[in-house]
Amino acid sequence: MPIRPARRITDTSPKNFGMFTKAVGMQGDLIHLELGMPAEDTPQHIKDATIAALQAGDVHYSDLQGMPELRSAIADKLNGQSGMDLTADEVIVTNGLTQASFAAFMAFLDAGDECLLLAPYYPQHIGKAELAGASVTIAPLDAADGFAINPALIEPHITPATRAIALINPCNPTGRVYTRTELEGLAEIAQKHDLLILSDEVYADITYDGATHISIASLPGMKERTITMGAFTKSHAMDGWRLGYIAADQSLIGPCMKITTSEVTHVNTFIQHGALAALQGDPTVLEGMVARDKERRDLVVTRLNQMPGVTCAPVEGTIYAFPDISATRLSAQECADRLLQETGVVVEAGSFYGEAGEGHLRVCFGCAELPVLEDAMNRMQRFFNAL
Ligand SMILES: Cc1ncc(COP(=O)(O)O)c(C=O)c1O
Repeated sequence: MPIRPARRITDTSPKNFGMFTKAVGMQGDLIHLELGMPAEDTPQHIKDATIAALQAGDVHYSDLQGMPELRSAIADKLNGQSGMDLTADEVIVTNGLTQASFAAFMAFLDAGDECLLLAPYYPQHIGKAELAGASVTIAPLDAADGFAINPALIEPHITPATRAIALINPCNPTGRVYTRTELEGLAEIAQKHDLLILSDEVYADITYDGATHISIASLPGMKERTITMGAFTKSHAMDGWRLGYIAADQSLIGPCMKITTSEVTHVNTFIQHGALAALQGDPTVLEGMVARDKERRDLVVTRLNQMPGVTCAPVEGTIYAFPDISATRLSAQECADRLLQETGVVVEAGSFYGEAGEGHLRVCFGCAELPVLEDAMNRMQRFFNAL
């Protein structure tokens, strides 16, 4: 008899990697625009600081919460960028945003609790809530309203079991950067119903055309009910490094630490020096990376809008375009499957992010250089012309 896995494995939703799984074994000339993997290399000064730390022998166990200088630099960044009032003790360095959110879900959700996701949602949140024994409820946002945070669409989904709302701001997959008014609406709901906000801000540094990222934790009364999560993953092209953080009121840090220390003790000691260099190094490096993402965005959004049956809203932040293809009368999944089969361009179906994303595709423009994006857009253009 095979050994039976735990019920938290067998009784939870299977992990689903969408179009990535469909494309992974395929031969041929594919262009991968389905994964949010930055196109660029990690900046050299970040690598240098890490190598220097390694050479200097910084290879042993260190602070369980993360290197104090790094925590202090993260607190300074968030205080400066978002007007928060964090101390270094209110930061935990984590293995990417994935571990940050896993810790947050595990620390604050119990069996029988519900976590509300705003849809289009980030599918990985479903698995995390379920591993914590909780379930998810979905509040679909309205495509016709640009997937705005509209309290009237959210509040009806709150039940006595709701404990938390997961927020992604800037939003993957829609590319929205939520306004203060939208966040105030959500904050009001959280306060009225005594809810925690799990705020995934992995794209906080990647905004365009003057869109300002606001952390919901910076709104009055929200610090003590928000877990802000960030990472170096997308902004500094450090996806393979696995470096992120939790920032929250002191009262929320202890429960998260109980999970992170049980899981991994702490993040690799020497790579934390790389993260410190990312924050303290020349700011024009990050500006340059975002400027190049903007060029990629401009190319992709402009080209998508020239394709028959395709309408692409402006992308305010993130590295994704979320074009509406409903005029083609293809379902999102049919369209993504056919694009893969007929053009070799791999994009994700909007329905992967919940029913609210039906009629859309998610096209990652941050994961390829301009000539590759150009090639992908030419192929997609031919596909939509021929429908
Ligand atoms: C919204 C969101 N959260 C979290 C992650 C994962 O971040 P990390 O690689 O830092 O764990 C991603 C990656 O695509 C993401 O889009």
